[in-house]
Amino acid sequence: MGDEIPPPAHQLASVSISSDATSSTTVQKARFSDRVRIRSILGRPDGGAGLAGQKVRISGWVKTGREQGKGSFAFLEVNDGSCPANLQVMVDASVSDLSRLIATGTCVTVDGCLKIPPEGKGTKQKVELSVVEVIDVGAVDTATYPIPKTKLTLERLREFPHLRSRTNSISAIARIRHALAIATHTFFDEEGFLYIQTPIITTSDCEGAGEMFQVTTLINHTEKLERDLIENPPPTEADVEAARAIVKARGEAVAQLKAAKASKEEITASVAELNEAKVSLARTEERSRLKPGLPKVDGKIDYSQDFFGRQAFLTVSGQLQVETYACGLSDVYTFGPTFRAENSHTSRHLAEFWMVEPELAFADLEDDMNCAEAYVRYMCKWLLEKRYDDMELMAKNFDKGCIDRLKLVASTPFGRLTYTKAIELLEEAVAKGKKFENPVEWGIDLASEHERYLTEVVFQKPLIVYNYPKGIKAFYMRLNDDGKTVAAMDVLVPKVGELIGGSQREERIDVIMERIEEMGLPVEPYEWYLDLRRYGTAKHSGFGLGFERMVLFATGMDNIRDVIPFPRYPGRADL
Ligand code: 4AD
Ligand code: MG
Repeated sequence: MGDEIPPPAHQLASVSISSDATSSTTVQKARFSDRVRIRSILGRPDGGAGLAGQKVRISGWVKTGREQGKGSFAFLEVNDGSCPANLQVMVDASVSDLSRLIATGTCVTVDGCLKIPPEGKGTKQKVELSVVEVIDVGAVDTATYPIPKTKLTLERLREFPHLRSRTNSISAIARIRHALAIATHTFFDEEGFLYIQTPIITTSDCEGAGEMFQVTTLINHTEKLERDLIENPPPTEADVEAARAIVKARGEAVAQLKAAKASKEEITASVAELNEAKVSLARTEERSRLKPGLPKVDGKIDYSQDFFGRQAFLTVSGQLQVETYACGLSDVYTFGPTFRAENSHTSRHLAEFWMVEPELAFADLEDDMNCAEAYVRYMCKWLLEKRYDDMELMAKNFDKGCIDRLKLVASTPFGRLTYTKAIELLEEAVAKGKKFENPVEWGIDLASEHERYLTEVVFQKPLIVYNYPKGIKAFYMRLNDDGKTVAAMDVLVPKVGELIGGSQREERIDVIMERIEEMGLPVEPYEWYLDLRRYGTAKHSGFGLGFERMVLFATGMDNIRDVIPFPRYPGRADL
């Protein structure tokens, strides 16, 4: 092989514009690079066997490398992140110095020929690459590279958020996450919903729970000012007096010149000096008023001096804003990051997470539940169709049952029951000896243990609980005729508990005003929201799906910190 001259890179593989080149005998080249994705070789139904004889350029990172035949050749397992499988790459010692290729973490770009591996080598691969030329090598410092061949725990991997995408598990989760995001946009697009981008910086607290991160430049400004005041101490009262004295003296000088009928030039020059002194006095007075600390009025922080001229926060939900578009465009959704400053250290909570929030005009709670169920089932089907290889990896490494769970959810209607019925079932369980940490009685907010008991033990499938007591839900949920409950619904799923929270919205202006008052919320910040009820109010409903909770549910991972690329939680915001 060593004496073959490889063709120029652009001829290595023919470009195919067909999206389904998997059964052809030509390789589909990445369109914006001269390499072939490993997925387009190994991801074919024939495992790439039909491509034997093709010349390709591949790039990726060496997972494992070993010299064999007394150093006469080496096998590299190369992964480029396009699929969970590694391509087996064989390099002859006549082609390259093998020692620079085999370290785990080395980046390689090689040209080679695809071949059917010899029988009986015990390899699962249908095809391997025999290298003709090594094009590029990104060496790795093996003494310090923190992602070794042997598996690190997921906790340990969190210490390397900038390198953990090199691992099988984190890269599989990233591909699953991507697939779920595409499934989301496809589902809502197919159903006629419009994608609306709601603001990340907001001045309204959607959930009214006071768990918002504040957005302010006051603190940086204050710090800067304090540093400045140390370097250039503010003028004293005596400095101000001195500046005033100069203004006075110059004023008198001008008056004297005028009285003495001095020349126009002399008077003009003297007036200019006076004006200079006035500007200097104003500056001195202004600086003398500067004080360290945040600006305050009547003992309260003066937000009129803040960046937005008022207090601002990171959004906890795009719902209120997306409702404004629903009440104009009918069916809409938003999908963006949301932020909650709750001090939760659980495996289900993040301080920064992504939420998918559809809002359906002319739809009631039942329509809302139907939409939520259809959407979740659509995502499960999508994963089974598009990312089965990654799901197999999750099943093998983390949760044996995850594929069956997707199949079950894709094919089985969700259970539905009222909150009141859910409490009855929990009370029955307690009567039969089931122990919960949190007491069960009508009116409680269901704890995660209650939710998981209902979905995992009682129903053994996803479940929608609806009509919750108004006391535990947000002000915008529609009051039911019983006056005690609101038209709220939560979708609960095995492994995770609450996946979705939603409701029919209160469209009656008088009722919602009463609710705002009852809950002790200020009306002023919600005036624009109330306008939607004042002008052409419409029945409407919506929900929010916690995107990371969906990834947890799909993959069977245990900790939400491992299903988002850069997790933020109390004490941690790396990179
Ligand atoms: O139930 P929540 O608080 O509902 C809302 O925010 C509504 N405004 C949604 C709407 O109707 N448009 O949150 C919705 C979902 C929860 O069911 C949960 O899956 C997820 O968001 N969630 C979190 N995920 C990760 N970390 C956190 N701290 C979360 N808090 C809520
Ligand atoms: Mg909720």
